[in-house]
Amino acid sequence: MTDTPAFHRASQAPADDYTIPQDWESYTEEEHNTWDVLYKRLMKVLPGRADQAFIDGLKALDLGKGGIPHFERMSDELEALTGWRVVAVPGLVPDEVFFDHLANRRFPAGNFIRKPDQLDYIQEPDVFHDVFGHVPMLSNPVFADYMQAYGQGGLKSLNSGCLKNLAALYWYTVEFGLIQTDEGMRIYGAGIVSSPAESVFSLESDSPNRIGFDVERLMKTAYRIDDFQQTYFVIDSYEDLLEKTLRTEFAPLYERLREEGCASEYRQTPADILETDKVFTEGDQAYANRGGR
Ligand code: PHE
Ligand code: FE
Repeated sequence: MTDTPAFHRASQAPADDYTIPQDWESYTEEEHNTWDVLYKRLMKVLPGRADQAFIDGLKALDLGKGGIPHFERMSDELEALTGWRVVAVPGLVPDEVFFDHLANRRFPAGNFIRKPDQLDYIQEPDVFHDVFGHVPMLSNPVFADYMQAYGQGGLKSLNSGCLKNLAALYWYTVEFGLIQTDEGMRIYGAGIVSSPAESVFSLESDSPNRIGFDVERLMKTAYRIDDFQQTYFVIDSYEDLLEKTLRTEFAPLYERLREEGCASEYRQTPADILETDKVFTEGDQAYANRGGR
């Protein structure tokens, strides 16, 4: 009785920062196997699609060695590369807790893994999304700095009333970002690289728009949380992403946004194309218009 997962997890009262022990020893063989199955599926689609920075991170941290990674051991390796560590949390955490972790170079990751009947899609981020999707990019020094800067920016913006606009920036970069490279367009967003179907869709479908990165534009754009994106934003480099977000003062932007109700109605729907956009591809939105998933 005492070692059932439910009892085990309920008995771990979260600390102020919401961290809990990963409890790696409690994962079942079936749970480790779920990681391996997902890992293999992704490795069929990611070569030639995921950015080299992501692939390098997977290799550097040896995330394909079999089973769910042990956070402490993985963090020791990650910390040696960029100073980041991964801490376990029970699920989504409040904004200020999330920002504080990022600002201190700690990535909060769910410690649970999806059930075998949820391999293709889950609503809540699990350990596969959080670790396979996010952690490789944290081994890239420039992207690592961007994630910390985002957390610091979040702490500064807690009382702005416009956190949803800041969330849109995270969504369209950290979760669903594309990057233009000499070899062609590639994926770096964690929400894409942890989904076999969206990895193909984001780069190859005629349906979505692919538009050049612009901070303010992203922060005014609504997004889908329940289906493939209708628009992806494309960065030139991680240096450019960091530089442009650091250089933009968000305080005056929030002030302007507040006058318009912040994100209560985002200025742009997920499918809009504006005259000022740098358009890589204009999608026909056929997938979304068919009703999506
Ligand atoms: N420049 C932003 C501000 O002034 C902070 C920030 C940096 C946010 C990098 C996101 C990413 O608030
Ligand atoms: Fe995520």
